[in-house]
Amino acid sequence: MTKKVLIQLDGDPQPSTFDAIVAVDAGADVLLRHGGVTADTVVPLVHGGMFTRGGADLASTAIFVGGSDVAAAEGVAARVRATFFGPVRVGVLVDPSGANTTAAAAVVAAGRHVPLESGAARPCRAVVLGGTGPVGQRVARLLAGKGAHVVVVSRSRDRAESVVRRLIETRGVPASCLEAVEHHGGCLAGSAFARVLGEADVIVAAGAAGAVLLDASGRRAAAGVRVLIDLNAVPPSGIEGVSVGDKAKADGGAVVYGAIGVGGTKMKIHKAAISAIFADPQAFLDAEELLALGERLESGG
Ligand SMILES: NC(=O)c1ccc[n+]([C@@H]2O[C@H](COP(=O)([O-])OP(=O)(O)OC[C@H]3O[C@@H](n4cnc5c(N)ncnc54)[C@H](OP(=O)(O)O)[C@@H]3O)[C@@H](O)[C@H]2O)c1
Repeated sequence: MTKKVLIQLDGDPQPSTFDAIVAVDAGADVLLRHGGVTADTVVPLVHGGMFTRGGADLASTAIFVGGSDVAAAEGVAARVRATFFGPVRVGVLVDPSGANTTAAAAVVAAGRHVPLESGAARPCRAVVLGGTGPVGQRVARLLAGKGAHVVVVSRSRDRAESVVRRLIETRGVPASCLEAVEHHGGCLAGSAFARVLGEADVIVAAGAAGAVLLDASGRRAAAGVRVLIDLNAVPPSGIEGVSVGDKAKADGGAVVYGAIGVGGTKMKIHKAAISAIFADPQAFLDAEELLALGERLESGG
């Protein structure tokens, strides 16, 4: 049987061992690990994968694009896609810094408790704290793509507005479904932050490791929230009172998830995605495709 070869393309000098181990656990037989990969140097690596195996055997080669610089990895992924032609292509998974699988898992978790789809009687109102980072931007993009009204929160109004603008311009999200709000900690009554918390059905904290984004006063302001998800695994919690291992834990009128509580779903999506890129050479799995995969896993499909 033809061995499954995964070409790991990583922008960091040392390719991620985490991504390598998950790939082996998900069924890759051989890993070709490349570090320091850029959009300018990736083409020969892709050609090597495209032209060595013919016919059905080509499906046993696949590409993983990773690295801690998410914008650079997206440039690499775009160049990989542009290098393929006709049927000469292999499956691709794009998951720099785990941002796509983590965001997809967070949205799957939220969707267990609140209808996210457009067409619901009242559109879901979601607040993404730390919404300017790689994970937060993807959570906002995926939730908006489902039809939720999304508020991107940042310490800088300019940064939040720039994320919102990109979603409108590149993803076609209606401007009326997005809001940018500035927040510097605490929760002042009458502030825009207090208002969006008061309206929130779902709050996802995607702030930097160890940064507290929602304290007790913020939680009190979010009186009607139904799902709280904290993706930060490094103490203190990003959302006060949420523990890292919480998974659909009832807390007042809400359910809460911590980073490890979401992490199980993230790992399932990551492993299923590795299998999917070996099953289908046409597959190009970015955040949206990973969310769809997560939703299929969730429904047992
Ligand atoms: N569970 C998993 O498997 C998994 C995988 C990947 C990431 N994560 C976690 O997901 C979270 C988001 O990841 P990321 O890479 O997107 O994070 P990030 O880029 O490090 O930070 C996200 C945002 O947090 C805000 N921030 C930074 N320092 C802050 C501070 N001191 N106080 C308040 N806000 C601050 C920044 O927004 P502004 O400057 O615009 O305010 C930044 O854009 C992290 O906690 C990360 O550890 C979990």
